[in-house]
Amino acid sequence: MQQQLQAVWEQLRIDLCGVQDTAALVQIRVAYLGKKGKVTELLKGLQAVPAEQKKTIGQLINDLKRRAEESIAQTQERLAAEELERKVLSAEKYDVSLPSTEKKGSYHPITLVQRELEDIFHSMGFTVEDFPEIVDDFACFEALNIPKHHPARDMQDTYYLSNGQLLKTHTSAAQNSIMRKYGAPLRAIFPGRCFRNESTDASHENTFFQMEGMMIDKDISISNLIYFMKTMLSEVFQRDVSVRLRPGFFPFVEPGFELDVNCQICGGTGCPSCKHSGWLELCPCGMIHPNVLRYGGIDPDEYTGFAFGLGLTRLAMMKYGVSDIRDFNSGDLASLAQFTAK
Ligand code: DAH
Repeated sequence: MQQQLQAVWEQLRIDLCGVQDTAALVQIRVAYLGKKGKVTELLKGLQAVPAEQKKTIGQLINDLKRRAEESIAQTQERLAAEELERKVLSAEKYDVSLPSTEKKGSYHPITLVQRELEDIFHSMGFTVEDFPEIVDDFACFEALNIPKHHPARDMQDTYYLSNGQLLKTHTSAAQNSIMRKYGAPLRAIFPGRCFRNESTDASHENTFFQMEGMMIDKDISISNLIYFMKTMLSEVFQRDVSVRLRPGFFPFVEPGFELDVNCQICGGTGCPSCKHSGWLELCPCGMIHPNVLRYGGIDPDEYTGFAFGLGLTRLAMMKYGVSDIRDFNSGDLASLAQFTAK
């Protein structure tokens, strides 16, 4: 009898596995639990069982009946889930081979300006270097001739981390390790994201991009600096630009300058964008301070060089006529869509 029960149970499991729709499941239910079903027949057969075995066998049959009901209910749930999935799929009818109707992705304007500059500098023999965003105090300040407690530290409101490191406030933070990596002569640019603890408005952001550049060799002078900056900016703006230098103070260059470009909106005649001066302030720069060369392992009696810190974000604003710096980090896809690659 027990073998018979086991055989019925195993057959039920096989039948349930193969069932594909509710109608077939109803038939299985009838075939096992209906009036003449296999399990019901077993219960009827209990009469013929010797009295002393009736209780045990009766329990076994009832147990089989309970398990059969449970398994049939579970199969019903499986079929319902499969049916729902079929409905969803047929409603959405995907054809993965069709061309997309969605808009194409676009590059961020800062990425576009950065890549353009990288190409220009690369063609002038500069390498493009990558650099971490988390640096130490030495890289960001001390190696740039800004000792602790120097008032120049106030120029850059810094985000310090709990371990004493900091988010780089300027790409100049990479100067020291790049000098140590390559020695002299050296031509390198290093674009990167910078962070300052500033309150934001239309022309200030706490996160912005710069591109630092250095050229170190024998007899490098201010004329080399002017030549490279003028050539590079003429390429960026696709026309011959004029530049001028004004004195500027940065502890890591001597002399230090602010480089202005003739206003690209009015051409230099004066307009609201250049505050009627005809010039736009574009890029601080200067001749690398001997101490900075020394920190970088380069002998200042043998080599000289220039460095500049181009504001990539600022350049992108000028090139694309973006009037609010906060637009760049807003993640607003509608404004980024203007820069969709053709
Ligand atoms: N690191 C400076 C800043 O962010 C900008 C700068 C000034 C970079 C002069 C230079 C430089 O390389 O020569 O304020």
